[in-house]
Amino acid sequence: AHVVTENCIKCRYTDCVEVCPVDCFHEGENFLVIDPNECIDCGVCRSECPVNAIFPGDEVPPELQAFVALNAKLAKTWPSITRSKAPPTDAERWADVGGKLALLEA
Ligand code: SF4
Ligand code: F3S
Repeated sequence: AHVVTENCIKCRYTDCVEVCPVDCFHEGENFLVIDPNECIDCGVCRSECPVNAIFPGDEVPPELQAFVALNAKLAKTWPSITRSKAPPTDAERWADVGGKLALLEA
């Protein structure tokens, strides 16, 4: 399955959800996740993300491996999101910031 990673935190642009053919994105306060049980690995969401937060499961960089389990876990309880919405007003400011995992509101 594809995996949403750190760059999404506090950016949450939601461009990705519009293109998913199986509606497998789930929404939290400041982050989105993909349900690995629903994702069909079509890959179309990846290029929609302005901050390159989405990776195919076998291409997740070593430092972002924690997000594989995090997507699976949070997708179980977070509600589904299928239409894009306005990103946080300060999304741009967080685009290139590292170490955002501590800021994830789960
Ligand atoms: Fe949806 Fe395809 Fe992205 Fe999986 S890879 S989350 S099926 S758009
Ligand atoms: Fe997040 Fe990128 Fe989607 S910032 S909400 S993965 S478009």
